[in-house]
Amino acid sequence: MYFAMASHFLLLGILGITCSVVLASDHSPLQDFCVADPNSPVLVNGFVCKDSKLVQANDFFFSGLHLPGNTSNAVGSRVTPVTVAQMPGLNTLGISIARVDYAPWGINPPHTHPRASEILTVLQGSLEVGFVTSNPENRLITKVLQKGDVFVFPEGLVHFQRNVGYGNAVAIAALSSQNPGVITIANAVFGSKPDISTDLLTKAFQVDKNIIYQMQSRF
Ligand SMILES: *[C@@H]1O[C@H](CO)[C@@H](O)[C@H](O)[C@H]1NC(C)=O
Repeated sequence: MYFAMASHFLLLGILGITCSVVLASDHSPLQDFCVADPNSPVLVNGFVCKDSKLVQANDFFFSGLHLPGNTSNAVGSRVTPVTVAQMPGLNTLGISIARVDYAPWGINPPHTHPRASEILTVLQGSLEVGFVTSNPENRLITKVLQKGDVFVFPEGLVHFQRNVGYGNAVAIAALSSQNPGVITIANAVFGSKPDISTDLLTKAFQVDKNIIYQMQSRF
């Protein structure tokens, strides 16, 4: 009896661990690769596989992450993504990468990736980074990073970066999805199309209606 129960709990424990690992990122591949065929009319979760006999080295290749992104914009940063959209060979592999450039005091505004954790490596400059834990704590976990430092943003949590050094900053972000997605908080809340009702946002943010109008006009 004791052993039966113990093994039962052990089994439950193992199942629990297995499930959380499986759900934490994209599904595992069931073959060597499944290079995306973006032209297929068949709709699946991800992309249909291109005929493996037609696959080329270039399907697994991207060139250009040595090039700085253009940071001349309102936030002073630029993300250059390499997801399945830029590299068809990433289909079903559950990973992607991006270069992020920051002008002095540039920010990557608060955002979340609905399908990925992100591990960020600073190549140049100093970045203040942070993420906020979920309700009810909403604890800010933040740190200043230097060249060579690595920081992880757990899947789904709101996070940001800011260049706090003297010159430009550069980072490489690796993500646990072929298509991590980005939800920029300000754009989603104040820049949706059509707008979320101003009355609703006034109540949600507990501020004057004119402040909401102003935010909506900016996004
Ligand atoms: C960078 O973006 C700005 C604003 O869109 C544009 O005016 C400028 O020409 C761009 N610079 C380069 C080098 O592409």
